[in-house]
Formats: sequence, C-alpha cells, structure tokens
Amino acid sequence: MPPLVVAGSAHPKLATELAARLGTQVAARIGERFPDGEWRVRLGDDVRGRDVFLVQPLCLPVGDHLLELLLLADACRRSGAARVCALVPYLAYARQDRRGGEGEPLGARVIASLLSEAVDRAVVVDLHSPAVEGGFSISVEQVDPMTALAAHVGPGAGDVVVAPDLGAARRAERFARALGKPVAIVHKTRLTGSEVEARGVVGDVRGLVPILVDDIISTAGTIEAATLALREAGAADGLTVCATHGLFVGPARERLSRLPLRRLIVTDSLPPPERDFPVPLEVVPLAPVLAPLVERMHAELR
Ligand code: R5P
Repeated sequence: MPPLVVAGSAHPKLATELAARLGTQVAARIGERFPDGEWRVRLGDDVRGRDVFLVQPLCLPVGDHLLELLLLADACRRSGAARVCALVPYLAYARQDRRGGEGEPLGARVIASLLSEAVDRAVVVDLHSPAVEGGFSISVEQVDPMTALAAHVGPGAGDVVVAPDLGAARRAERFARALGKPVAIVHKTRLTGSEVEARGVVGDVRGLVPILVDDIISTAGTIEAATLALREAGAADGLTVCATHGLFVGPARERLSRLPLRRLIVTDSLPPPERDFPVPLEVVPLAPVLAPLVERMHAELR
C-alpha cells in the first residue's frame, strides 16, 4: 500500500502536491472548532496498518498548528496506523536553540520533545541549526533545499553568495558550491526580535552582484541590514535574495518594498503570501524534493 498523506490545516496545498507526486491522495479529515475554541479533528479515511505522513508547517498561529498536528498524530496512532511521520517543513521555535540567559526556556527542545512523544519519525526542512535535531528522541530526516534553490536561482543571478550572518555561513557555502561562486559573510548583531545591526562584510564583494542566502525571512530586518552593509562595502546593484522559509511578519513587507531587489525567492515550506505582496516573489516548490525522501522512508517499512 502507498504511504498515506494527512494534511493539517496549515498548508493543504503542499500536502496535495506531495500526494500527487507519490501517486496517492490526501486522506479525508475533518477539522472543526468546538465553541470554546478547542480543535475537534477526526480522520475520514482508514489509517489502520498505513504509513502516515502528516504535513504541517508550524506557521502562524504557531501554537494552534502545533496542537492540531499533535491531535492528528494521536488520532492516527489510536486508529492503528503502522507508523506516523510528522513532516514539518517549517519548525517554529528552532531559533530558540539555546538559552539567551537565566530564566529562559529552551524552546526548540520543548517542541522537539512534544513531537518525539507524538510521532515515530520526523522530517524537517532547513533547520535553523542542525543541532536542534539533538532535542528529538526519534529519527529525524533533515532536508536541505539549497541545491534546489541554487538550481532555480541559476549561475547568472550574481557573482558572490553572501551569508547575512555567521550562522548562515555553512548554508551559503552549500548554495555557493552548487553554483561555483565565492562566499562572503555579513557581520550581524541582533538588537531585538525585529531589529538587527550589520557591522561590515567579511570577504570580497566590491563591484560584485550579491546573492543573499538565509534560512528565514521573518521581519526582513536581517536582509535589510545585510543589503545596507553590502552597499557600503561597494557591492554592485542587482541583488537577489533567497531564503528557505518566507514568514514575512511584522514590518517585513514595508522593509522589502524599500530594498533594491532584483529577485526574491523562497520555497513553499510555508503557504506563500497570496495578495498585497510588495515585490514579485518566486516560489520554489518543495514537493519534488520531499517526494523521493518519503518514498525512501516508506520503502524501509516494507
Ligand atoms: C537568524 O539567525 C536567522 O537565520 C534569520 O536571519 C533571521 O531569523 C531572520 O529574521 P528577520 O527577518 O526578522 O531579521
């Protein structure tokens, strides 16, 4: 029997595209609200003996989508699924991978523990830090979309791949390797949740067209600060910005509309904004990357 795809409410389109590539269908399910706001989820298809892949990125409202995923996982297990895999293209709280100071929780570990209790395996895409996997007590498949993103961007998009902070350096290196380009790194300091400061660029960017590569665009403060730093360092016009997860929250739209962008590219790990987006957005589909992995994981069960 083929794997069974179950969609949470966060991103049914991705689940449908994945199921189509797997030659299967998205399972019927009901997701309603009780009058007090509680979820009422119910599976409409028989999952007994099936290898279930539950598709749910943890986008806004994060807590709600997480809880829905946990409830669906419990429904699958109690209904006799052979194995349940949480396919979480965007793992919220992954940026809380270390304690900022005394009195703070380890957010990434809390989410990892909850998922580890609820499912047998997990698939995540471009984790903010690969070390987040250590918080899981189940097998985790980390999907790296850099090759797919680089193939979409193409070698003609720029001369140098730029990481907007030190944490993004490895990712930028993988992207640059796929295009045969050099790498530069912006020296960034975070001031608040939405404000950052860039203090300069390490590496040669003068007269070169940059391709900025990051994991997340949230408020776009990082991209804005990196763009200014690149300009001050003498980079040429024609900036391309590329990220795995396009959250676009808070001042992101306003910030992006002010930037001299030639291209802005994200994957569909989160549902792309549908309207009123200030700049043309290119969306790279993840289903072609995820489907072969799901097929491999499913084959292991047989
Ligand atoms: C930070 O370390 C991340 O890799 C991203 O650069 C950051 O989360 C982006 O957030 P924002 O768009 O709000 O600057």
